Amino acid sequence: MAAAGRDAASACSAGAWSLRHLHLSLRVAFAAAGGAGRLRGTARLELRCEREGAGPPVLDAHPSLAVRRAALLEGPGGRAPPGGQALALESLPFTGYGRALRLALPRPARAGESLALEIDYEAGEGPGVCWLAPEQTAGKQKPYMYTQGQAVLNRSFFPGFDTPSVKCTYSATVKVPEGFTAVMSATSWEKQEDNTFVFKMSHPIPSYLIALAVGDIVSADVGPRSRVWAEPCLIEAAKKEYDGVIEQFLAVGEKLFGPYVWGRYDILFMPPSFPFGGMENPCLTFVTPCLLAGDRSLADVIIHEISHSWFGNLVTNATWGEFWLNEGFTMYAQRRISTEVYGLAYTCLEAATGRALLRQHMDNTGEDHPLNKLRVVIEPGVNPDDTYNETPYEKGYCFVSYLAHLVGDQSKFDAFLQAYVNRFKFQSITADDALGFFLEYFPELKEKGVDSIPGFEFDRWLNTPGWPPYLPDLSPGEQLMKPADELAELWAANGLNMEAINAVDITAWRTYQLVYFLDQVLQKSPLPKGNVERLSKTYPKISEAQNAELRLRWCQIVLKNNLEAEYSKVKAFLHSQGKQKYTLPLYRAMWGGSESARALALETFSATAPQLHVNVQNYVKKILGLEVAED
Ligand code: BES
Ligand code: ZN
Repeated sequence: MAAAGRDAASACSAGAWSLRHLHLSLRVAFAAAGGAGRLRGTARLELRCEREGAGPPVLDAHPSLAVRRAALLEGPGGRAPPGGQALALESLPFTGYGRALRLALPRPARAGESLALEIDYEAGEGPGVCWLAPEQTAGKQKPYMYTQGQAVLNRSFFPGFDTPSVKCTYSATVKVPEGFTAVMSATSWEKQEDNTFVFKMSHPIPSYLIALAVGDIVSADVGPRSRVWAEPCLIEAAKKEYDGVIEQFLAVGEKLFGPYVWGRYDILFMPPSFPFGGMENPCLTFVTPCLLAGDRSLADVIIHEISHSWFGNLVTNATWGEFWLNEGFTMYAQRRISTEVYGLAYTCLEAATGRALLRQHMDNTGEDHPLNKLRVVIEPGVNPDDTYNETPYEKGYCFVSYLAHLVGDQSKFDAFLQAYVNRFKFQSITADDALGFFLEYFPELKEKGVDSIPGFEFDRWLNTPGWPPYLPDLSPGEQLMKPADELAELWAANGLNMEAINAVDITAWRTYQLVYFLDQVLQKSPLPKGNVERLSKTYPKISEAQNAELRLRWCQIVLKNNLEAEYSKVKAFLHSQGKQKYTLPLYRAMWGGSESARALALETFSATAPQLHVNVQNYVKKILGLEVAED
């Protein structure tokens, strides 16, 4: 196992104890009148003592977990009486986002000894377990529940080792009410009598990838190892969006990065308040229903989540301070697959929109902000979820692209990525492990001292905040970007040259070309008086768009130009979905805008807050200067 630094975001006794297997046995009960329901059951942990004097096992838990009883099922000293031997337990404060659960053993364990613990508990109110009332679903008939583990939320779902430095296999039985279906991030899924679903994950995975969803959901095949899951009213649209294409993405991924080990690759379309574009739960990616654009234009999110099958899910960041290892490598892998499937020009265009997001983020926070380093310092008390921003993604992408640039040959770098996955699969690693392997794999580069080229030192990449010292060449996207740049220029002019504008035909532009165009318009905003109104009328395809990426940009333009006549679109978009990366930029823009924009922010937030994920709610509250309750 590669050396993993201590994870300051976890209270668990990883290191002293290794976790072999986790079994959850749960019953799901929805609340009669909306609100949080309950998960009741047991967590069984199979542990092995790794060193003499290890001390008692300590688990990550959360104030919202009600632990009823802990029992020792096996060892030390052999099998316990039926039902186990009750253990004293102590819940200790840890951080704002978790508590430590310490279990007292009847006698100290010896190195090499194994034991099985069973913990009876209830969960429900915590940030990792989301309960939606029927009105918050697409079908509006039945309630829904799902869990979201990344980064440190699963400690409110079950007591365990909630650190990405530890991996174990897991299994679960989940009993749900009549008329509901349960799905999990597992290699096998089986429905038994009695509305009970049985799951097994046969590969070791970190805690944050254990995920459960329960609702009125059905499935449809879209490929030989893939199906889509969605509420009945969305299943046709879901099937249509991705029928026949998933296999191609997987096959290209396998060609580039090695075998897809997870068996199935299924997709669950979540209710609209799901806070992410996608979440790479193994075997079953969770995605926002915004991806149902009708034209496959947002498939980059699926390619991204598929890429995590190698980068993140097989080779995992050992701590959240090294999050760029998950996301930076995944962005690179995503764009490699995209290049093979859609070509270099389109992929460079998509990467340019990513670079624009990094620019916006650094402008918002200041380049020197400590979170704008790849390696983030997570000290006790720093919530890893607060470090989620564009830097690990897009600066991480630039760093991996820089490594590829040092190698200078795409196929050699692809071979390296495959060797990297093979070397570290099923392990958790740090940047030092990754970069050490890079230099070992390319001894001639090591000899040349590529890790210490002035201005581009690996150490600088990792530990200095700021704009990336190297940017990959995106000029192959020029053919798509140039017309968009020119059109944005025309729209930013004083006195519009409508003849020149009308000569540009945007009807054939792909979504990302429009996104790129709108980002340019946004950067040049506020435009001279009257221009945005004119733009809105000229391109209903943009201003009336249903595509979420276009809607986000259009709303940003509306706010930056204070176009009150179209505020209703901002409101409608924020009512329609709750993705964090759409929600926060719009609230930031409203709060930084006019009095009427601020009023719109307050009004919209008070109407939509209950349907937002609690983390997103809290981030919006911070933007609006409202009080955030400590959890
Ligand atoms: N793993 C992330 C989502 C995430 C990050 C959840 C941090 C919780 C904490 C996922 O793979 C992701 O990056 N999703 C992106 C997709 C995009 C980059 C194509 C998203 O949701 O926007
Ligand atoms: Zn990701």
